Amino acid sequence: MNGVRIVGTGSYKPKNVVKNDDFKKIIETSDEWIRTRTGITERHMSSGEATFFMGAEAAKDAIAEAGIAPSEIGLIIFSTVTPDYLTPSMACMVQREIGADGAMALDVNCGCTGFAYSFDMARRYLATDDDIKYALIIGAENLSKILDFEDRATCILFGDGAGAAIVSRADTMYAGFYGADGKGGSVLCAENFRPNNPFMDKDAVFDYGIHGGRKEGLLYQDGKEVYKFAVKIMPFVIEKACAKAGIAPTDLDLIIPHQANTRIIQTAAETLGLPMEKFHIVLDRFGNTSSASIPLAFDDAVKCGRVKRGDKVCFAGFGAGLTYGASVFEY
Ligand code: UT7
Repeated sequence: MNGVRIVGTGSYKPKNVVKNDDFKKIIETSDEWIRTRTGITERHMSSGEATFFMGAEAAKDAIAEAGIAPSEIGLIIFSTVTPDYLTPSMACMVQREIGADGAMALDVNCGCTGFAYSFDMARRYLATDDDIKYALIIGAENLSKILDFEDRATCILFGDGAGAAIVSRADTMYAGFYGADGKGGSVLCAENFRPNNPFMDKDAVFDYGIHGGRKEGLLYQDGKEVYKFAVKIMPFVIEKACAKAGIAPTDLDLIIPHQANTRIIQTAAETLGLPMEKFHIVLDRFGNTSSASIPLAFDDAVKCGRVKRGDKVCFAGFGAGLTYGASVFEY
């Protein structure tokens, strides 16, 4: 029983929709530039909805779709780079909201690959612990709170939202290929508080080894470097996960790629020799929602009937860390 079955999916999108033209009020840009360079038309942005709240709403949607009771959930994994609190974890806050009493609850921070990593982790827990019947995995982000709205090459890319899935063990095909390259961390980073205790040597200088241009707490991205990484890694992880599963990328019915830039997805499709129709894209409506991007897109594919039971599906992600990975499974 080494496979997994996604028995329910859900999502939450903040009510506030920000269109490309809205950015003209704050930066020099155009709808045409954003659409042609990225594929994005609009994105949702929080008007105060917290990360845990969006995650809990997506979770409730997934639980209802799965037709299970929250008490049957034994594990909650919450992926985010924009938690509301450093502690408690977002997973614990969701547990409180949905009443999954006693479930294990933890957060993961793997950038935009986080939901796919969580899926792989959930599969491993389910495979080795019979006490866990259902795992709830969530990807939720409030990226708008860490965006630098003076950086026009970055702030137009991202959006807020959440996606979730309920996962159970199954006797089906599954393979995951995951990795990271911490040496690349400087190209996509956001710094947390620095130590500032009353006893510290204020003259001491400590090199954190992350050399992105920084504004405290705000997201920095070297778009060109991330782009170069992305176009190489996306086809690579899909090929690797398929090889582990003993299938060819052409055998996949549907790929849910991290939704960062349509041009990245097009290049991956060309490299793999696959038609774009194999990739489900919601980037135009939601922008890049980091951890939430894959579960939002997958929930969309489920709800619009794009994916059918028995289909071979691939989640393929890359992001801050740098992290990367893919899961191939039977829906
Ligand atoms: O989940 C995280 C993963 N992140 C990504 O995958 C992001 C990967 N990177 C990208 O998607 C692209 O690099 C961007 C969309 C961020 C930028 O696209 P680009 O084609 O690499 O543009 P560029 O940075 O080379 O900029 C081209 C021009 C520049 O003007 P000059 O120097 O040629 O005069 C920019 O200043 O476009 C300008 N520009 C803009 N113009 C209008 C940059 N941002 C904007 C903007 N509106 N918003």
